[in-house]
Amino acid sequence: MYARTFGAATLGVDGLIISVEVDSANGMPAFDIVGLPNASVRESKERVRTAIKNSGLRSRQEKITVNLAPAEIRKESAGLDLPIAIGLLAAQGRVTVEKCSEFVFVAELSLEGRLCSVNGVLPMAIATRDAGLKKIVVSPDNVNEALLVDGIEVYAPPTLIELVEFLQGEGKLEPAKSQPAVEPEGFIELVDDFSDVQGQFMAKRALEVAAAGGHNVLMVGVPGSGKTMLAKRVSSIMPELTREEALEITKIYSIAGKLGFNGGLITKRPFQHPNHDASTAAIIGGGSNPMPGQVTLAHHGVLFLDELPEFRKSALEALREPLEERQVTISRVSNTLTFPASFILICAMNPCPCGWYGDRDHNCQCSQLEIKRYTHKLSGPLLDRIDIHVRVPRVKYDELTSKRKAEPSAKVRERVSAAREIQLNRLSKYHLFCNAQMNHAMLQELCTITPAAKDLLKAVFESKKLSARSYDRIIKVGRTIADLDNGAAEISDKHIAEAIKLRNELDFER
Ligand SMILES: Nc1ncnc2c1ncn2[C@@H]1O[C@H](COP(=O)(O)OP(=O)(O)OP(=O)(O)O)[C@@H](O)[C@H]1O
Ligand SMILES: [Mg+2]
Ligand SMILES: [Zn+2]
Repeated sequence: MYARTFGAATLGVDGLIISVEVDSANGMPAFDIVGLPNASVRESKERVRTAIKNSGLRSRQEKITVNLAPAEIRKESAGLDLPIAIGLLAAQGRVTVEKCSEFVFVAELSLEGRLCSVNGVLPMAIATRDAGLKKIVVSPDNVNEALLVDGIEVYAPPTLIELVEFLQGEGKLEPAKSQPAVEPEGFIELVDDFSDVQGQFMAKRALEVAAAGGHNVLMVGVPGSGKTMLAKRVSSIMPELTREEALEITKIYSIAGKLGFNGGLITKRPFQHPNHDASTAAIIGGGSNPMPGQVTLAHHGVLFLDELPEFRKSALEALREPLEERQVTISRVSNTLTFPASFILICAMNPCPCGWYGDRDHNCQCSQLEIKRYTHKLSGPLLDRIDIHVRVPRVKYDELTSKRKAEPSAKVRERVSAAREIQLNRLSKYHLFCNAQMNHAMLQELCTITPAAKDLLKAVFESKKLSARSYDRIIKVGRTIADLDNGAAEISDKHIAEAIKLRNELDFER
């Protein structure tokens, strides 16, 4: 007999409904899976057979063929165990075919017949809804994730036998409810506050502008001036996530298997802080079963590269694509995947190997050649993509010992959130969230610049020999500064002047 059930897989960050056809016929006992299964799906056979047997159900020894469609997509999910098992039972008349076709089944099976969690359930649940299917069956460990999708019913039986009894119309199974929010691993608690950092007004302003508009920042300064301290506190001034942003991030963490035991919506912006020796694949993503890299895990949050010149040159160069396109493309033999990667890049470094170049009170021990070699790792194209370059000098004694507490993060965050609110309104029709995401065409449509500001831009463009990219990026930062300035409708020369100052603070000697 023949039966069809639905399962799901993921492709990049999207879910995809897989049609599972099962034929069970008289003949030499066999169990074949066709339709581009990868190793984990091929192993399904053993799990499915054993789980059925240990559930007290019996499948007949027949010639069983399973076909997974669409055929051209490599199926990578152990979550296809469940639709294969149900399809097999339906093909052998143990459950009714019509009843099964209302559901999408997503779970791995343990040998004793329990439903186990798989990665990527959130995008698969979204695909279920988008395909017009109304019901999904997942493991109890994935239930919170699936419940994030409105408009579908989620069923989460702990075992295969309970599911089968329900499909046979015998057992009872209610749709799942409840949706507690949890914080997954790798997210920073907001205990560190901006007010811990004394002085450094210029750097703090730079980070405020960056958080408000989503711009990239490079901080250059002597040792112990507070660069790492500042960067680690950026999360505390970032605006709250919109529901749409939160869902996008949760999808990524779902696929990467980093949602934690409880699943549920991610409510904090990610802060990724890779090591110097991180491989290009770890940062950008990839592998034979492509996984999101740090740039994707930092989506809508911060990617912090501390001691920038220590990173591998190849990894730094690979950042060029996500910094420009806000996504990464990973090519494979069979197809190309894209992962979103719209993050704020924050980098910190010393001005030279000894760290003291440019400091008034210390002598730099480095030769010109050493300094050149040190900064040479940072290519022009990479620096061009960093909107804000700020110097972080040694903090002054009076500032460090001042009794006056610096401004708390909550205060800064209020201004940042107000500016972000304005951007959300302006950019809603493009489904964008911040100024940094605007492309050239949107810039022209949405950014009105006063004549005085235009004159200033022209003069600087010519004297500094700016690239077209720098020019666009200055306008975007100018737009953010205007948004922070009580939401000024036009970008004035004052706003542009600050944007230029923030970009050219260092005037990199290369
Ligand atoms: N502006 C500051 N206000 C208060 N404390 C500071 C400040 N700057 C530095 N410190 C103190 O110095 C310590 C080191 O600062 P931090 O690690 O941020 O320096 P850094 O600029 O990253 O130095 P390096 O270039 O060596 O990495 C901090 O943990 C903090 O105790
Ligand atoms: Mg540091
Ligand atoms: Zn030096």
